[in-house]
Order: sequence, then C-alpha cells, then structure tokens
Amino acid sequence: FKNSEAFIAEATQFLEKFAKDKKVFCALSGGVDSAAVYLLLKHAQINVLPVFIDHGLMRIINGMEEREYIKKYFPDARIVDIRADFLPKIFLEEDAENKRKLFKTGYSDIISRTIRDEKCDLLADGTILPDIEESFGVKISDLKETLSIQEEIDLKSKNNKGFVKSQHNLDIEYEVEATIQPVASLTKPEIREILKYFKMPEEIVYRKAFPGPALAARIIGPITAENLSFEKKVHDIVESKINEYYIKNHGKSMIINDKGEQEPFQMFAAISEDVLNKKVTGLVNGQRTYDFPLVVYGKWNYKSLTEMASKITGYTRMFYEIVDCKKGVYDVVIRSVNSIDARTASVTDLPYDLISSIAEHLSEIPETKRIYFDMTPKPPGTIEYV
Ligand code: XMP
Repeated sequence: FKNSEAFIAEATQFLEKFAKDKKVFCALSGGVDSAAVYLLLKHAQINVLPVFIDHGLMRIINGMEEREYIKKYFPDARIVDIRADFLPKIFLEEDAENKRKLFKTGYSDIISRTIRDEKCDLLADGTILPDIEESFGVKISDLKETLSIQEEIDLKSKNNKGFVKSQHNLDIEYEVEATIQPVASLTKPEIREILKYFKMPEEIVYRKAFPGPALAARIIGPITAENLSFEKKVHDIVESKINEYYIKNHGKSMIINDKGEQEPFQMFAAISEDVLNKKVTGLVNGQRTYDFPLVVYGKWNYKSLTEMASKITGYTRMFYEIVDCKKGVYDVVIRSVNSIDARTASVTDLPYDLISSIAEHLSEIPETKRIYFDMTPKPPGTIEYV
C-alpha cells in the first residue's frame, strides 16, 4: 500500500477485470471494511447491490441506530429488516455458542436468498489482511510489498481454503461464481485511508470494531427485550463519551499510539444481572475457553489504569468496581481496548475524570446496579465476553 490513489487505481483494474458486466452482492455490516469494499465497487462503476441486515441487536451511537447511519451515508443500501423474526429466536437462546449460530444463519439465509432473487453473480466481502493471516496462519506482511491484489487471490487458490473470515463466515457456500475480496491486502489503518479518500466523515472513518454476534456478545446470560434496550443505552454512553473525549483532545476519535495500536480500537459496555457469578471467554495457550471467572480486584482507587492493569495475573477477567449504585437490576462493565488487529489488545489508559463522568451518566439510569471497569488485556482475556 503506497497511497490511497494508487491502491484505488489497482483495485479498479481488479474489479474491471473480474466484475465488469456482473451483478455484485455486497453486505454492509456498518463497519469500515465492508464500507470500503462498497465504495470501491461504486467507484469502479460496478453493478452492486448493497444490503444491510437489521436484526435489532446493533449498537446505538450518539442516539442514532446503525440503520440510520447506513441510510445517511449509504442511501443506496437496501435495508432488510429481520427484527420481527430474529429477536424472538435470540430471546429464547441461553447458550453462547448457539447465539453465535443464530447470527450466522440469520446472515447467511438473507444473503443466499437475496443472491438468488436478485440473480447476483458475485459476492464481495470485506476480508482484510489480518483475517487472511489468521485463516492461513502465515504472516503475509513480509511479502506484502511485492504482492498485488491478484497475486493474493492466487495465493488463496493455492491454499485452497478461500479468503474467508474465520470467525463468522466459515463453512458457508453461496451460489455465486466467485467471492471477490478487493481489500484483502489492506490493514485496518489503510482501510481508513481509503474511506478518507472517498470523503467519508470521521464517524465512519474511525468507526470502532463491532462483532458479528452484535450486542449478544456483550449481554452476559440470556437476552431479553428489557436488557437489550438497557445495553443499547449504556453502550451509547460509553462509546459516545469516549469518542467525544478523543475528538476534543486529538481532533479525531482514534489515534495511532506509540505502540502502533489504534487507540481506542473499540470500547463498549457489557451487562449482566450479576457479574460476580458469571463465567466468560478468555484465552489459554491461544485457545478460546468459556471458563474465565469474573473477579473484582478491588475498588476504583488508582489514578492510572496502566498501573492497575499491571497487577493482573492468572486466568480471570479482572474488574475494578467504580460505583455501587445500591439500586437497579444490571451490572455494567466498561471496556475500552487498544489494538493493532484485534488479535491482542491492551486496556486504554483513559483518564480518571473521563471514567468518573461516564460512570455518573450510567448511574443516572434507574436500572443500573454496579459499575465496573474491565482491566484485562488480551491475552489472557478476549475483547468480548462470549
Ligand atoms: P475477541 O472477543 O475474540 O474479539 O477478543 C476479537 C475481535 O473480533 C470481534 N469479534 C467477532 N467478530 N464475529 C465477528 O465478526 C464474532 O463471532 C466475533 N467475536 C468477536 C470483536 O469485537 C473484536 O474486535
């Protein structure tokens, strides 16, 4: 990646070669990778069908539902509303793995049906370089300078595995001639450069990562209409306030810090009826387990988060209690991490005043019980909770 202009020229050539006169299905997830793919397709004047699947578990940022952002910035997108069908199913599911499966089928059913009904020839997805390295278990970055997009696609066929995102696309075959992955050679910061080139606003360029299983990854235990609505409210406070702080102090809501991490890479609130008696995900020897107890390490009394983080040992998720509201129904956990590519993460060193002010806003909501801050880096923790 030399610069956006050069990349876009190369990507346009690639798309003209492989997608000219074809109809291309492109799912917009709300995230930066699929947004870049869509903008490249449009730029290359490919016949593209952008689709956003609204299952009802997307986040709210600054009071705006994800579907509103899609309507605002990608007005051509077709919004497929599956809330009425999807929400009752997810409300009945307690098991974390089954929750993930519901999302996987929820997405793939719509994609398959739309591809069939709309007679799409190709599917474009937002796989980026770290996804490929993860799937192949190889580090492509050494070779990267010498690889063109086409050479990377060839690499795919040699490995015969497909450039698929390991986390939520695995095993799904769609009835298309091929899947094209125009941003497969890019890292996340490079994707953001492309979005800037296409004059996307800051709230799109620096959009924080969000998992495929959406807010299901942040509601510990069964999901209900009530706790989902609460989760959206508290999430909005955490994400919007931290964004606001970075914009005020750095002019944008994400910086590259001196460790080369995107800071903050993502921040959110997780909720539970009782955080202390739960087990969540973590990593032991690189393997995901669902056996990490949540441990409250102490009261919020240090000035520096890095200092607190340095006290963490062992296979637990370590929380500090910020406040016990002595009322309410749900515990809220604030999490904010910095990361290069989500494979490892460190806790964002947010100032004490910012955390206190977020906690104050959270405690104004009647359902809030206790508020914690998660101090666990990845590893041994994972970023999400399921
Ligand atoms: P973890 O929790 O594994 O998350 O440390 C790493 C990154 O991936 C996101 N994430 C997911 N994304 N499907 C996805 O598309 C998933 O099942 C999934 N689980 C986690 C998470 O938000 C973080 O950025």
